[in-house]
Amino acid sequence: MNKLAAVFVALAFACVNLHAQKFPGLALTPPMGWNSWNRFAGNINEDLIRQTADAMATNGMKDAGYVYVNIDDCWHGERDAQGFIHPDPQRFPSGIKALADYVHSKGLKLGIYSDVGDKTCAGRPGSRGHEYQDALTYAQWGVDYLKYDWCNAEGLKAEGAYTTMRDAIHAAGRPMIFSMCEWGDNEPWLWAGDIGHLWRTTGDIFAKFDGVLNHGSWHQNGVLQILDMQKPLRIYAGPRHWNDPDMLEVGNGMSESEDRAHFSMWCMLAAPLISGNDQRDMKPETLRILTDKDVLAVDQDKLGIEGFACSTNGTVETWFKPLADGGWAMCVLNRGTEPQKFSFDWKNEDVSDSFSKRDANFSTTDYTFQNLWTGETGDTKKILSAEIPGHDVLLLRLKSGSDNAAAATAQKIIRIKAGVGAPFTDEEGNVWEADHGFADGDTVEGK
Ligand code: GLA
Repeated sequence: MNKLAAVFVALAFACVNLHAQKFPGLALTPPMGWNSWNRFAGNINEDLIRQTADAMATNGMKDAGYVYVNIDDCWHGERDAQGFIHPDPQRFPSGIKALADYVHSKGLKLGIYSDVGDKTCAGRPGSRGHEYQDALTYAQWGVDYLKYDWCNAEGLKAEGAYTTMRDAIHAAGRPMIFSMCEWGDNEPWLWAGDIGHLWRTTGDIFAKFDGVLNHGSWHQNGVLQILDMQKPLRIYAGPRHWNDPDMLEVGNGMSESEDRAHFSMWCMLAAPLISGNDQRDMKPETLRILTDKDVLAVDQDKLGIEGFACSTNGTVETWFKPLADGGWAMCVLNRGTEPQKFSFDWKNEDVSDSFSKRDANFSTTDYTFQNLWTGETGDTKKILSAEIPGHDVLLLRLKSGSDNAAAATAQKIIRIKAGVGAPFTDEEGNVWEADHGFADGDTVEGK
């Protein structure tokens, strides 16, 4: 390369990096989809992915909003002499491009998996030293989502390693959700707002409501263990930058009430909802839980503010989540195995949230509510009394008379957000821009 060409290449890279950012307009609400790992681990092939896409396109999952079909670890074959990665020829003989075309033909999107190190957690080739090449390859294949793991990361700094891949995706030019999976080891919530669309906050989940599975050098967490680790983190997440308490275990062996409680709490956390069960063979109750539109609306609420545990009484924890229409979701979780009586005297309860600056004002404002799992209705004029079965929830959506007014103005406002590289306009005409003087989800009137 002569000197001029070298200067040109250096300048081109500088320009790319100057403007590098996450793709705008993605993950305005927590991403929804499916991933192969929780159920199938490394035992995957292209037939499974096609059959999963077929199932999701027809079983109600796609209609409910689960659009990403994500291949986790073990799709990889070898790198060629030029360093380009190829899929495992036995398991993915038609190639990832053909698979992406197929998944797209079903109205779904394709996700893939890689790792910051030179090997993935399962020992397949990782992206270290090949970041720009891999991002380009994924873009050419038609990939829409990249989960990027943190195994074999010795000598790497997380912020740098994840920024490199973000910039590589940006340079490749295809919009992709960037899902950071470094298990919360480096507190990504403190620095990754402009890097990832979501970041894992903990080590791996397993299909147990309350427990830890010890593997010696690492362990897996049950639902309650992960839930407790989320409590201090809610102030760091919001539209386009979500805390990820790991993929769902609904339908993977817990009881129906445990699945319901796990799902309800992930919705209260505004968590990404990446199902992890066998889509081709689902019990009706599993499908009912995963596709309940009213419960999903709590997760997908545009305000994007996580719920908080407001009070605890014995094994019963009461959570509240502020919603965009001015109302609230309320979830009463029984962490224990025995049924518990629960009573809530609205007028004497103080439910306020300094983060969202919202106050339920139960003493002066009446709300009506719907039990989202049973459809039963009620109001806050009289004391709420209920019995919560063990490892189950009572999930309510509260609305006040003034909610509609709030919803009507919500369309016209500019949303001021941290974590946005450049201003952009969403489908409803709201302009999003960064202003670190505001809390996530704060809004002001449109110009
Ligand atoms: C890590 C991740 C899991 C999964 C496996 C694949 O453990 O946290 O979600 O991707 O690697 O090997």
